[in-house]
Order: sequence, then structure tokens, then C-alpha cells
Amino acid sequence: MLKGDLIAFLTITVPECVASSVTGSSPGPTSRRSRLAARRSKNWDDRVAELEQLASTPGFSSLREQIIALGRLNRNDRVLDIGAGTGLLALAAAPRARHVCALDVSPAMCRHLEDKLARLPIANVDVVLGMANELPLDDESVDVVLSNYCFHHLSDAGKRQALDEVRRVLRPGGRVVIGDMMFHVGLSGARDRALIARFVGRMLRRGPAGALRLLKNAIRHVAGRGEHPAGADWWRRALEDVGFAEITVRALDHEGGIAVARRNR
Ligand SMILES: C[S@@+](CC[C@H](N)C(=O)[O-])C[C@H]1O[C@@H](n2cnc3c(N)ncnc32)[C@H](O)[C@@H]1O
Repeated sequence: MLKGDLIAFLTITVPECVASSVTGSSPGPTSRRSRLAARRSKNWDDRVAELEQLASTPGFSSLREQIIALGRLNRNDRVLDIGAGTGLLALAAAPRARHVCALDVSPAMCRHLEDKLARLPIANVDVVLGMANELPLDDESVDVVLSNYCFHHLSDAGKRQALDEVRRVLRPGGRVVIGDMMFHVGLSGARDRALIARFVGRMLRRGPAGALRLLKNAIRHVAGRGEHPAGADWWRRALEDVGFAEITVRALDHEGGIAVARRNR
């Protein structure tokens, strides 16, 4: 592993745009499929309350507003939200679209979102348990795909598989808008270096707890359970390779970025 890679992985824990704390994990998923996914990333079943908190922060609210605006939804659109979590995007998209499929790999997250929906006057959202890289949807059955802070939990190969799946389920001409951690894991770019310095500084200012978090992250990474953010260049190339056009990838003033593209006809 490159020195830069290690430093970066020591630091990746929580979105810089949120800068909150993250707690541990324990078993929970019920299906084989979700167990497999949980092994590959975090166990999201234990993180429902934490994610509900993150979703209410100004950082995530701002991402929601930007992603929804870039989705340019209309009342006939069938929308897919990948890694829907507690419904940040799905609930915002529902009043603007015909139908929303809120897909997530975590059974607990799905149950939580279903409970929320039962208390809301929203009838056009279906919650679906599934994986980003094996979408349980028909070909060309979706007009707009949205996603926020899910893809960096997939390896680069997993992200590409998921993008293939996004292309498959999108109708020709359909749009995809993905918000995610977007920076290169390394020290070669000025933005990457500044982000990493900020992350490390933030952790170290927390004292022993922060240093412990850095250590835990390093262990998670070495065990193959780390996060996998990709830089804007990676996203541009991957979207192009998979068969998207009109691609724009914008880095935000934190570690995040938003990619927008249209499926070729
Ligand atoms: C950081 S949360 C973001 C949730 C929501 N999009 C938001 O912005 O509040 C990431 C979500 O992605 C889900 N997730 C992680 N890996 C996934 C995968 N391979 N397929 C589908 N969902 C996944 C997690 O269960 C979690 O709900």
C-alpha cells in the first residue's frame, strides 16, 4: 500500500460535510444476500438512528437539495434511490415523481423507512431490500436514478458493476445523479492533500478517542472493510466507459462531489 493510501484510509470515517461521530457494529442482517453485503462494508442495521441524525444535518440537507434539483424530476418520472437509508432523497423525490423505489441493502434501514412512510401521507414510495450491484428491477424501468453517499461503500469494481446496473435499469435518455465522497485516495492532488490534512487534524484534536478512531480505520482497511471513495476523474471515466453521455462531475467544498449523466440512447 502506498504511504498516501494508508494516510487517507486512516482518516475516512464520516463525511466531512457532516463531521459527526460513528459508532461500532454487530450482526443483524437476515438474508444471505445482505449478510454478504454487510461483510463487504459496514453493518448498516446498527446504524439507523445514527444515519437518521446524519440525514438531518445541514451538510446532508444541502446534498439532498442539490441532488434533487439536478435530477430535474417531473410528475411522470419513475425514480430509483440507491442506498436510500432513512429516506433522505426518496422522501424528497416522492412529491415530485410518479413513483420512487427506495432500495437499500440493510433490512433494518428498510423497515425503519417503511415505518416512517406509514406515518406520512406518501403513497408512491416502495422500499426494496437489495444491492446496488444486483438491482432487482427490470431493464429500462426507471427514468431517474439518484443516490447519496452509498457508492463509496463499494469497491471500485463494485461501483462499476453498480453503474452497469444503473445503465441497465434506466430507460434510454434517463438521468443519473450521484452524490458521494469524491476524492482520490492519495496525496498527489492539492484538494486530496488538503482534505486528508483536515481529516487527520480533526481526528487528532479529539485526543485519544480520535487517535483510536484512526487506528480502527487502519485496521478496517487492512481487513478489507474500509471505504472506497473515488476521485472525480475516476467517476468521469467510469460513467463514460459504462455508456453514459453529458457527464458532469463537480467537486464540492468538502470531500464530496456530485456526478450527473444521461444514458445514451
Ligand atoms: C451513508 S448512508 C446514506 C443513506 C442516504 N442515501 C442518505 O443520504 O441519508 C449509506 C446507505 O447505503 C446503504 N448501502 C451500503 N452498501 C450498499 C449496497 N451495496 N447496496 C445498497 N445499499 C447499500 C446502507 O445500508 C446505507 O443505508
